[in-house]
Amino acid sequence: MQFSDRVKNITPSQTMASSAKAAALILEGHDVVNLTVGEPDFNTPPEIIESIHQAMLDGKNRYSAGSGVKELKKSVQRKMKNDHGLDYDLNEIFIGVGAKHVLYNAFQSIINEGDEVIIPAPFWVSYPEHVKLAQGTPVLLHTKESNAFKVTVEELERVVTDKTRAIILNSPSNPTGSVYSKEEIDALASYLEDKDIWVVSDEIYEKLTYGQTHHSIAESSPAMKAKTIVINGLSKSHAMTGLRIGYACADAQVIKHMTDIVSHSTSNVPTPIQFGSVTALELGEDYLERNRQLFNKRRESGYKLIKEIPYVECVKPEGAFYFFPNFKECATRCGFDSVDAMCDAILEEVHVAVVAGSSFSAPDNIRMSYATSEEKFTEGMKRIKSFVETKLEGVSHENDN
Ligand SMILES: Cc1ncc(COP(=O)(O)O)c(C=O)c1O
Repeated sequence: MQFSDRVKNITPSQTMASSAKAAALILEGHDVVNLTVGEPDFNTPPEIIESIHQAMLDGKNRYSAGSGVKELKKSVQRKMKNDHGLDYDLNEIFIGVGAKHVLYNAFQSIINEGDEVIIPAPFWVSYPEHVKLAQGTPVLLHTKESNAFKVTVEELERVVTDKTRAIILNSPSNPTGSVYSKEEIDALASYLEDKDIWVVSDEIYEKLTYGQTHHSIAESSPAMKAKTIVINGLSKSHAMTGLRIGYACADAQVIKHMTDIVSHSTSNVPTPIQFGSVTALELGEDYLERNRQLFNKRRESGYKLIKEIPYVECVKPEGAFYFFPNFKECATRCGFDSVDAMCDAILEEVHVAVVAGSSFSAPDNIRMSYATSEEKFTEGMKRIKSFVETKLEGVSHENDN
């Protein structure tokens, strides 16, 4: 039987694979510290759950418009105005099944076979797959750790060709936690402004910044707004990962094409969840600020612990909920051929699950999520530190002999 070339080309999600390995060990009864997770470790606020329940009791259980119910689009419209000063008409807003599916639809709408899409690396694992599924060509742009993994105009200029159709920006970033400053965003905007290149701006972690403020590139100028597809969602900001709400704000033509696609695929996001999301967007800043402070506290304590691991360097993240330390020298000194091999050994020997940076095209680094309790994170770092110290001792004894 035949399978499509498209599916043969897909690299399955490595972050999900790492979580699955950790889950399998937990099922076997091992005490695993799981630092692979990319979701808040607390429940969705009760107001949202109650409002979904109420919507169901009120009979809002039918198909909705493919691009989303008007009530939720109006909430997104208000949010974009309040947070970014940007005006979007309702036909410039699309509600989808999580930001992942919204991104998938966006690439299906703007990319033709052979079109190049620039993806700054390290990158979130789904971007290259979305581009390949749209028959585009992912062009990886490797950023420098010394520049906190942020793309500069000079680096961008080197990879832009006449086949470039889009660039992905992800600030705050998964996996690096980097946040572009207003100056950095504006510099990229002034280079891109007169080019025939879409900017797909994934802003899903916008509410989680520490010190640095989030700036959408769509704010830089009306010309940038017109060519930017802003992607966002409620998974990370409102602990709604399983409820699957994402949205896009963009030019009405793009939104129309995305809507046409879902009219033959998902039809619409479950209607009651859309009504619950209206409540989410109306919860106000206090809820978001409490979460931000919680993650910031974990970031401060976790960062100190990472710095105590011998031969590990770490750019202090300014956003999201991930550390992305460089383990290259540590792995080499501990006798491993690669950081990947070290991650496997850490899981097998001391039962701490992390995601190897190779999944994000950064083979010297490891992603550790701090969307977990401080106690668990502290335990994870204690285990990794003692694992490293034991290996270093072993290597030094070998050298003595
Ligand atoms: C950078 C980034 N974009 C998009 C998503 C997808 O989020 P959603 O749950 O809304 O599909 C994730 C989830 O991990 C992410 O890290």
